Amino acid sequence: MLAWFRRMRESEPVSHDGEAGVWHVFRHSDVERILADPGTFSSDFSSFMPAQEDVDRFIKGNLLRKDPPQHRKLRTLVSKAFTPGVVARLAPRIEAITDELLDAKAGAEEIELVSDLASPLPVTVIAELLGIPAEDRPMFGRWADSLVAPESQTSFIPNEERTKSMAIVMREMNAYCLEHIRGRRARPREDLVSELVAAEVDGQRLDDDEIIGFVGLLLLAGHITTTALLTNVVLCLDEYPEVAAALRADTAGLPGAMEEVLRFRTPLAPSMRRTTRDVRVGELTVPAGQIVLAWLASANRDERRFPAPDSFDIRRAPNPHLSLGHGIHFCLGAPLARLEVRIALEKMLGRWSEMSVGEGVEYHDARGIVGAKRLPLQLQWT
Ligand code: HEM
Repeated sequence: MLAWFRRMRESEPVSHDGEAGVWHVFRHSDVERILADPGTFSSDFSSFMPAQEDVDRFIKGNLLRKDPPQHRKLRTLVSKAFTPGVVARLAPRIEAITDELLDAKAGAEEIELVSDLASPLPVTVIAELLGIPAEDRPMFGRWADSLVAPESQTSFIPNEERTKSMAIVMREMNAYCLEHIRGRRARPREDLVSELVAAEVDGQRLDDDEIIGFVGLLLLAGHITTTALLTNVVLCLDEYPEVAAALRADTAGLPGAMEEVLRFRTPLAPSMRRTTRDVRVGELTVPAGQIVLAWLASANRDERRFPAPDSFDIRRAPNPHLSLGHGIHFCLGAPLARLEVRIALEKMLGRWSEMSVGEGVEYHDARGIVGAKRLPLQLQWT
């Protein structure tokens, strides 16, 4: 993919793929501009999806797929509940969950990073945040896996068959969430769903379907991307052992290292938009009603924006990567993702004097998610 990106940035920075029915955009300046202009580049794809009651219900509160003004209403309301303070207060729990997961493997010479840590950590954190009982969490993880993973590997807009199979999972999840939300309406507790139920801006509140949609989005947006980032951190440290040694000696470099991993191995490779009018991008005019793939993973390697873009440099500053998006849809979970990955990494470096990637790594399809779905790791414990 990286070689293709480099070639396309140079020779065809905006390109029409008639067969796939999409337009590709590769340069940082064009990608950034697309993300900054929701009026022209819409996030609403409902016109492309076959109508399905369960899917419609599920996406009603999915702000990632909304344009202004609905987006502003939803984002303001959920931001009231999902504040940086709420996230910061999660730190002790994230530490405890990470410890529990690592304790379960104490002394093991080899672990499988994804199933042992990188996937259960974000799912458990989101489930706790939402107040989902511990015994229901495996089901929650299963929904996340079946709704996210296959989609990145097929087409960008799900076809009828895929929409049907997604609808089955969504129906189960909608019913579960509805019961959970009604429970919190009747008896609020200290969790995000109770906050969402109570959130009010200018007399407006979220209805049940909007909360269901937001819960679904948290589960989907907050799980696989964070898992991918954790695997990417480990893959980068394996490739650059001198960086791992430097971070072990001084963890002050961790935030810079995480940002560089986000740039270097961009977890969510493209962002997708729909044109609302004919629009000039680079040298070409993209007609109205077209799907545009704005390649974050290519923008992050653009030599016009980053000096030595193919060097992994944890001291890179500034680092204007687009891995968490840009503009009104900028990742709402960014502080949580950064916190989870920093804590996990501190614990891993603290417990393991050495880690090296073993045989049998399996990757996601890099056209969707950049990261490993299976990552055997050989360890020496301190
Ligand atoms: C939006 C990436 C973790 C919740 C986005 C977008 C990107 C992104 C690129 C914008 C997509 C677009 O404009 O089309 C990531 C990455 C993550 C991560 C790389 C991990 C490393 C999380 C977590 C949560 C989360 C942990 C919550 C628990 C959201 C939400 C939005 C979003 C709610 C939609 C915001 C809006 O539309 O206003 N994320 N994300 N993300 N992300 Fe994340």
